[in-house]
Amino acid sequence: MLLDYPDKKYFESFMEAVAEFSNSGPTEHHPTSEEISNRADFLNYIQNMEDRRLGRNLKPGYVPDTYLWMIADSKYCGQISIRHRLIPALEQFGGHIGYAVRPSERRKGYATKALELALPYARELGLRKVLITCYKSNIASAKIIIANGGVLQDEIQNEGHHDLTQRYWITYRI
Ligand SMILES: CC(C)(COP(=O)(O)OP(=O)(O)OC[C@H]1O[C@@H](n2cnc3c(N)ncnc32)[C@H](O)[C@@H]1OP(=O)(O)O)[C@@H](O)C(=O)NCCC(=O)NCCS
Repeated sequence: MLLDYPDKKYFESFMEAVAEFSNSGPTEHHPTSEEISNRADFLNYIQNMEDRRLGRNLKPGYVPDTYLWMIADSKYCGQISIRHRLIPALEQFGGHIGYAVRPSERRKGYATKALELALPYARELGLRKVLITCYKSNIASAKIIIANGGVLQDEIQNEGHHDLTQRYWITYRI
């Protein structure tokens, strides 16, 4: 598995992943076929990712973020995003890095590896430590963060959220 920037060459497998996410219940971590249903939507989406990475046309209250795609056997398996800086809302929930693996590719170690591979990108963006949040009930996500050196700071209750949010920090050694 490797990370690559969003690219139209992954159209087919990306759309398969979108269908899988749509069938696996609501998630705020990945677009579904309600948002992306055809090639034009897909091309808009990757253009939007590029704009966001470069800080172009950001919606009010949004910070630039870099999307990287998990690719195995030349196919799209999931995505990981790095917000370039924190704002108060992201300090409470969201943090610097978020990720999602398509349902058919889970439990193969891809998210753990993707976070490992994404950390140098975040360092390159100038971050000296990285905040990652997850719900306390998201055991897989907590394992992924801890496997990459995450240290639990605290658990907070965010208003309107069904579960406690755990906040972990990964600090770079150099
Ligand atoms: C959470 C998610 C990213 C995990 O992706 P993944 O590629 O399956 O994760 P990995 O294969 O790297 O597994 C990491 C660890 O979690 C465990 N794990 C994975 N899925 C699990 C599950 N459903 N229940 C319990 N443990 C699980 C793995 O066994 C592994 O544990 P180990 O290190 O002890 O072997 C994926 O389930 C997903 O996309 N979920 C929806 C979006 C989401 O929750 N994103 C994170 C937001 S904070």
